[in-house]
Amino acid sequence: MEAVSTWALLLVLLLLVIPLMLSWTRTPGHLPPGPAPLPLLGNLLQLRPGALYLKLLQLSKKYGPVFTVHLGPWRRVVVLTGHKAVQEALGGHAEEFSGRGMLATLDGTFDSHGVFFSNGERWKQLRKFTTMALRDLGMGKQEGEQLIQAEVQCLVEAFQGTEGQPFDPSLLLAQATSNVACSLTFGLRFPYDDKEFQAVVRAAAGTLLSISSPWGQAYEMFSWLLWPLPGPRTQLLSHLSTLASFAVEQVQRHRGSLDTSGPARDVVDSFLLKMAKEEQDPNTEFTDKNLLMTVIYLLFAGTVTVSATVRYTLLLLLKYPEVQERVREELTKELGAGRAPCLGDRARLRTRRGSA
Ligand code: HEM
Repeated sequence: MEAVSTWALLLVLLLLVIPLMLSWTRTPGHLPPGPAPLPLLGNLLQLRPGALYLKLLQLSKKYGPVFTVHLGPWRRVVVLTGHKAVQEALGGHAEEFSGRGMLATLDGTFDSHGVFFSNGERWKQLRKFTTMALRDLGMGKQEGEQLIQAEVQCLVEAFQGTEGQPFDPSLLLAQATSNVACSLTFGLRFPYDDKEFQAVVRAAAGTLLSISSPWGQAYEMFSWLLWPLPGPRTQLLSHLSTLASFAVEQVQRHRGSLDTSGPARDVVDSFLLKMAKEEQDPNTEFTDKNLLMTVIYLLFAGTVTVSATVRYTLLLLLKYPEVQERVREELTKELGAGRAPCLGDRARLRTRRGSA
């Protein structure tokens, strides 16, 4: 009798829970079309962790450039595929698309703070501040260009130091691009053999690898299930903690040497000066937490983005030696042997590419 009532109770529970799960996963009327989700799994069958990018491209062939997928049972994500859709959304409807989506792998650390992971008024203020601070320090201007050219010189010397032997340029490339970001953010560049700096750069690369790994992609769908498990998450947190400790160390150094009458030496100084200015404002967004999260993001973005772009460029030049030869010929002809290109050469080199 007891067994019968237990089964009856389970059946009633199932009857209650299944419609609830179906309603969680149903796409409301206003969202673009997409594959039907399964309860609890969402679109797991269509989106294999580790091959998310390829699977999304396949789905776009069926559903068009704008479609909806379910990452796990509860997370609905609208996907934009291709240059035209992205440009139309971010360019033509910038305000509607200005919200930053959640990234489950990094959400616990950034907690909606800092320039990249915030939204609304906080994001508006931090974005305006960060872009202006970077511009004031020379980003996109001649001072920034000189900074990059000086770093490139160091990088070329380090490459030449390998004396024609095969080597993996990944770490050096990341250190060089990171040095440009560190100069703007902390007013410092680090020698390539500095062990602490090497660990920080490796932690930034490790963070990118973790969040884009099969585990990271599965975590975006099932964080509620995977977060208690050790392993990849512990490793990601260890990378983030290396970045955070370094950022805290740099901020503390700045607090000790800040000249409150200005001018700002770097982004951290600018932020501390702004904090001092808004000290009495109870609603200020210029807080310790937003400072730290902004600095960690700049360190991360400044290390992994440009270096990955340059690494892929080198890879493509290796793969297509005839293109490499054409590029070398063009640079030698336009600039003269051994002269580094600068922003002023861009239009000329572009015109040649366009007419080729
Ligand atoms: C190849 C290099 C880079 C690429 C492809 C890239 C790409 C992006 C993308 C796609 C966004 C999001 C834009 C949006 O949602 O509207 C972004 C935001 C941002 N990036 Fe980069 N980035 C690069 C390099 C850098 C570097 C070197 C820095 C600074 C050191 C930087 C700082 C920022 C900041 C502060 C934001 C946040 C702006 C905001 O939330 O509106 N990025 N970047």
